[in-house]
Amino acid sequence: MLITRSVKALRKHLADWKQQAESIALVPTMGNLHDGHLSLVRAAKEQATRTVVSIFVNPLQFAPNEDFASYPRTFAEDIDKLRQYQVDAVFAPDVGEMYPDNEISSTYIDVPGLSDCLEGEYRPGFFRGVATVVNKLFNMVQPDIAFFGEKDYQQLLVIRKMVKDLNIPVEIQSVATVRETDGLAMSSRNQYLQPVQRMQSGIIYQAMQTVRDQVMQGANFTDIEQQMIQQLTQQGFVVDYLTLREPVSLQKPDCTDSLNYLEKAGSKVCNSLIILAAVRLGTTRLIDNLRFSLKPVDR
Ligand code: PAF
Repeated sequence: MLITRSVKALRKHLADWKQQAESIALVPTMGNLHDGHLSLVRAAKEQATRTVVSIFVNPLQFAPNEDFASYPRTFAEDIDKLRQYQVDAVFAPDVGEMYPDNEISSTYIDVPGLSDCLEGEYRPGFFRGVATVVNKLFNMVQPDIAFFGEKDYQQLLVIRKMVKDLNIPVEIQSVATVRETDGLAMSSRNQYLQPVQRMQSGIIYQAMQTVRDQVMQGANFTDIEQQMIQQLTQQGFVVDYLTLREPVSLQKPDCTDSLNYLEKAGSKVCNSLIILAAVRLGTTRLIDNLRFSLKPVDR
């Protein structure tokens, strides 16, 4: 397994592989690998002949008040895990390799619209940081296919839009969220939770399931959102948002309930909704989502 911090060394190996007509998969990560990341690695290995995992904690996607300095960095353990998966290359540039002229003055990419709502409202600059670094990784690795987790659903949409708008020749594949047994979505930030908070945190998934079930039974969208926000708040969560959205545009559905939604969608393609949530427990901020179909696709 090649482990390199240098774009030049990485490119040398990539050139050899490309010459032999190998297909290249990229799994971009910030390290501290858990089963969610490893499910991306498994998917990558199934679909390409060479898999590159990048490990880079990207300063450009952290606001000054966020956890860039304390973000868990577990390089040795990550390498052990990736060796077990027989990954072909680990690309772990330092900040100077990624942003030779300093990240603050770097050319950047903004993806308007999709970046402005939800996470974009609570974390200004976050999607600029993500889009810029992912674009740089695509240029460095030039993968045929790249893998992203559905847990970061808005990030996935932003990356897909960037790839489409900029004609980047890479296929984006998403992989389902991996959950703990109580439903908590796996995330490196889960380890910030105190034991009591960790016990409470399964409630986020339960709340989203309740919203889904109630919507399927015809509940009013706004009422059920408000009810769940209130319940979570009573249980000690600070809810940044818990909201039903149309899953392609991330806009609020212009409807009161599922029947109304299906009527407007004309029961053709847009028959699904997504619940997106961002909540804080103490100083830990967690995001999750649940997408569901209102009825089978009728094409
Ligand atoms: O999802 C992440 O881990 C990061 O946002 C990504 C895509 C690796 C970019 O830094």
